[in-house]
Amino acid sequence: MKHDAVEKNIGLMIILIIVALSFGTLVELVPLIFGKQVNEPIAGLKPLPALELEGRDIYIREGCNTCHSQMIRPLRAETERYGHYSVAGEFVYNHPFLWGSKRTGPDLARVGKRYSDDWHRAHLYNPRDVVPESNMPGFPWLFDNEIDAERTPLKMTALRRVGVPYTDEDVSGASAAVAGKTEIEALVAYLQQLGTLLQSRR
Ligand code: HEC
Repeated sequence: MKHDAVEKNIGLMIILIIVALSFGTLVELVPLIFGKQVNEPIAGLKPLPALELEGRDIYIREGCNTCHSQMIRPLRAETERYGHYSVAGEFVYNHPFLWGSKRTGPDLARVGKRYSDDWHRAHLYNPRDVVPESNMPGFPWLFDNEIDAERTPLKMTALRRVGVPYTDEDVSGASAAVAGKTEIEALVAYLQQLGTLLQSRR
């Protein structure tokens, strides 16, 4: 019997398993690579302006993504708490993605406009001033540090190389847009735009 030959020959078995798995992977992956739904930005999506872009880098530097995800799953418990589930088209300009995989704190994918700028500033200075039971660390140094305006255009140029459509005006105006701003201003600006293109909770 042919089947016997496969079952008794472990080498052949391994090769056939690899073939079967590769085929399955291709069937799952190839349509995604070419599918519009995952490559096309959702309506209204623009590359982050200079200040928000700097805010995103502070978010990464401070490790916010180690405690906060930015990915709302299409489950009722999540959409009722956070708002519309995340869609691929929201992330086409994200390099790197900040979806995260750990939720020590709440998901932040749609936190934009949920609180005032003043709330965020107070919360980031010392979370317990506004949320007494919070175990999130404070980030008081963000209020003293200034953005290094010389590097913003370079960051935009780098992102342009991987397909983020910054214009020449974006790049040439970037330094002026962040000059003299503090890190807290950049971070709050970044948080306030998160997920605002699709409806949030409320
Ligand atoms: C050690 C884990 C941890 C880190 C790191 C952390 N957070 Fe949090 N964060 C939490 C927890 C827990 C909460 C819920 C309690 C609270 O609101 O303070 C929270 C709440 C928040 C909220 C309110 C969300 C909501 O929907 O109510 C925001 C905004 C936030 N964090 C932003 C940040 C930012 C920005 C950073 C990085 C500068 C950061 N967090 C770093 C744990 C963390």
